[in-house]
Amino acid sequence: GRVAVFMGGDSAEREVSLKSGQAVLAALQSAGVDAYAVDVRGCLLKTVESPEFDRVFIALHGRGGEDGTLQAILSQAGIPYTGSEMLASALAMDKLRTKYVFEGCGLPTPRFRTMQSEDEAVQIISELKPPLSVKPAREGSSIGIRKVQTAQELADAYREAEQLDAQVLVEEWIEGPEFTVSLLQDRALPAIGLRASTDHVFYDYEAKYLADDTNYRVPCGLAPEDEIRLQQLALDAFRVVGCRTWGRVDVMQDQDGDFWLLEVNTVPGMTDHSLVPMAARAAGIGFEELVVRILRDTLE
Ligand code: DAL
Ligand code: MG
Repeated sequence: GRVAVFMGGDSAEREVSLKSGQAVLAALQSAGVDAYAVDVRGCLLKTVESPEFDRVFIALHGRGGEDGTLQAILSQAGIPYTGSEMLASALAMDKLRTKYVFEGCGLPTPRFRTMQSEDEAVQIISELKPPLSVKPAREGSSIGIRKVQTAQELADAYREAEQLDAQVLVEEWIEGPEFTVSLLQDRALPAIGLRASTDHVFYDYEAKYLADDTNYRVPCGLAPEDEIRLQQLALDAFRVVGCRTWGRVDVMQDQDGDFWLLEVNTVPGMTDHSLVPMAARAAGIGFEELVVRILRDTLE
């Protein structure tokens, strides 16, 4: 059957999604799949009216495409699609509620508060241990994330985050190193260690997509038993959120060597700078095979 690669969309991660989608489309076509691109803008319901496709490869990032809305519509229309279903997609998009689930399941995640107004800055600074990370609860690609030390910086970062999402999450900053674990067909791929160059406070949007000096480590540099512990933690996170087929779990390591879960991504980036393709390659799985395997899981 025909495969539509859904990409673009209206979220803040539109540009990233166009790159992911083009890469996925090219790989499917070179694998001989009858695939074409659909830039999904405006009303999602329209995309399932008299569809010219039999299944969908979702390469949309962020709200609308990665957050369960589209997944619910495709499920309702009986159109198979890649990746997680509605509930896991919605949950994983919301970093705040993901942390409630991690905590409820006894999985380690940095201490946090929600923030509803900049007036709470002084209190939050006294309750959590700075530096803190301020995040819009439902964004991706580090958009709107700030590292703060003081109540004034927290209030400023809150105002910025709140422009992107009414829900703002504040969590204790862990200096890292940062690791990411990609999941494919419900198995963990080799972990990647990340270090942004010194011009970046952390692995931010620029470090993710633009910089050539971000330091990716595969193998990740951990002792084998530590990497296995990290992969197991990522699998646990993937499972408690209820994800399907593929995804990526982002994790910080503190100075004592303990791991702390940040979030789960249900449609991770597939650009030429992206991490899942890098992890797959380290496991001997080329990009084309990766994309085909993700698609194959939609076949009943
Ligand atoms: N949200 C971006 C695309 C990622 O997780 O890779
Ligand atoms: Mg994310």
